[in-house]
Amino acid sequence: MTRGRLLAFMQRTPRWRVLRRAAHDTLSPRAVALHAPLQTSEARRLVHSLLTHPHLPVSAHSQRFSTSTAIQLLYGLAPLRMGGADPARRLGEVAGELFGSVKPGRSVVDLLPVLRGVVARSAFLRRKADVWYEQVPDLYTKFYWSASADSTQPCISVQLREGKYKDISEVDAAWLVGVLLLASQDTTRVALQYFFLAIVLHPQYAAQAQEQLDTVVGSRPPTFDDLPRLPWIEAILKEVLRWRSPTPLGKVASAGRKWGQADVTSGAGLAHAASEDICYGEYVIPKGTMIFANLWGMSHDPDLYPNPEQFDPSRFLLPSGELRPAPPDTHEDYLTFGHGRRACPGKDLVLRELWIAFAYVLWAFELKKALDDAGKEITPDPDAFVDVGAVVCPAEMGVRAVPRFANLEDLLEKARSEMK
Ligand code: HEM
Repeated sequence: MTRGRLLAFMQRTPRWRVLRRAAHDTLSPRAVALHAPLQTSEARRLVHSLLTHPHLPVSAHSQRFSTSTAIQLLYGLAPLRMGGADPARRLGEVAGELFGSVKPGRSVVDLLPVLRGVVARSAFLRRKADVWYEQVPDLYTKFYWSASADSTQPCISVQLREGKYKDISEVDAAWLVGVLLLASQDTTRVALQYFFLAIVLHPQYAAQAQEQLDTVVGSRPPTFDDLPRLPWIEAILKEVLRWRSPTPLGKVASAGRKWGQADVTSGAGLAHAASEDICYGEYVIPKGTMIFANLWGMSHDPDLYPNPEQFDPSRFLLPSGELRPAPPDTHEDYLTFGHGRRACPGKDLVLRELWIAFAYVLWAFELKKALDDAGKEITPDPDAFVDVGAVVCPAEMGVRAVPRFANLEDLLEKARSEMK
């Protein structure tokens, strides 16, 4: 479908290396720190939308947050309002079509690789992929050039257009920004949805984080400067991504099924392939074998994370309250971003984005279970999932966000005006 243009599906070629370097460069810890004002403003908008649209499901708030952040950061577009038009809607749709098509087993070629040549030569068999490809380059290029170089807010399209990236053609750069959008939108949205699920089911941990927020920030909203003094927020972030990885990869699930009931047509991740015959213990993995990193399995390894199905952020904290150093085998606790040379380049960006969102929401609200028509609490099922291609999200749920400050709206407005 992508004719070798999409970074995440490229072989390890010199072109992939150049694009990967540019992705690393624009998403390095130093580069992503420049997006702090944008990420903070979006966290504030998330709180505001929970306050003003209490009846919308968690997915609607999470979707607005992740898309709005991504389109500003990548294309310099204006923030999305809840219920407002999404100028990049079509970009989201093409991403959905692409991810739907990469589920292992979706193409006959996955089962019978010898048919690859036949499919490649047949206009009839390729027609869906061709139609998809014909629309996408223009779309990506249009958005890539829409970003204004005059904006004060740093924007990745503009950064790529600068002279520093001369070895990247305009088309490749436009596709690169396109892949960053499609790799970030659903993953970030789903991580935020799991946060709401976890906190609604385990309010005792929100209370711990709120005690810390009350001491450190009081009645003003948190900022990135507070990060070192709010280890509970980081522990919650680590635990959300461990407990429910948005990209479990090797673990399979599908719409309406409980976790672990396998459905081979569904992958929830990106496949790798063995680049040569590999001997692993007594097994031989032949060259070309499709391989999934079982990130779910790693994050639920009881030797590393005792009682792994239990959501418990305190596992990442020392008795002193500081963050516990990661076990030597993992180097760090964010296993959900993959490993090695294809590991997620967006990790530093999204960790900051989620950190400030979690901090803002916990500072602003008690998160309680939604009520049904009879006023009875609805307990969401932590094991009900929907597989949407490369990610697996929790089933739809609502939340009752009860403000922790009577004048929350004024506090948000004050924070907004002070940021200008
Ligand atoms: C919670 C959010 C996210 C999760 C859980 C996540 C997870 C992953 C995983 C598991 C991979 C595959 C690693 C592998 O193949 O071994 C990946 C690849 C990738 N991610 Fe992320 N990601 C997230 C957010 C983002 C964001 C925000 C961006 C961009 C701004 C991004 C950009 C990419 C790209 C471009 C690749 C492909 C890299 C390559 O093939 O060289 N991701 N991500």
